[in-house]
Amino acid sequence: MSVFIASDHAGFELKSYLQTQFNLLDLGTHDKESCDYPIFAKRLAVRLKNDDKGILICGTGIGMSIAANRFKNIRAALCFNEEMAALARQHNDANIIVLGARIISQETAKNCVEKFLSTDFEGGRHQRRLELIEG
Ligand code: RB5
Repeated sequence: MSVFIASDHAGFELKSYLQTQFNLLDLGTHDKESCDYPIFAKRLAVRLKNDDKGILICGTGIGMSIAANRFKNIRAALCFNEEMAALARQHNDANIIVLGARIISQETAKNCVEKFLSTDFEGGRHQRRLELIEG
C-alpha cells in the first residue's frame, strides 16, 4: 500500500507537518503560493490503485472532498476527529481522508491519519451500501 498526499496552499503547512510523521508520497503543492485545489485532488485521485490511500488537505477540506469524489473508485471522507477517521474506513471503505487545515489542529490531523491508516473496512452490510452507490 502506498500513501499519497496533496494539498493546496492552505494545506501546505499541515502537509509538511504530516510528512514528518508518516511515510508519504508527495504530489504537491510545494509552497504557499496560491493555487487551485481541484488540480491536486485530480492528481492524487488518478494515482490511487488497489489498496493505496490518499490524504488531501485544503482550508476547510470541503473543496478537496467535492473534487476528489468526482473520480471513479474514489471514496473521499472529510474527517474532523479520530472517530470519523475510523468510521470512514470501517463503514465507508474510504480510500482518501480529507482534512481542513484551517479547521483542525496538527495533532488532531495526525491522530486522524494514524487511525485512518490502521483501520480496516468491516464489509458485510456496508459493502452492500457501497455497491448501491455505484448504481
Ligand atoms: C483557499 O482559500 C480555500 O478556498 C481552499 O483551501 C478550500 O478551503 C476550498 O474548499
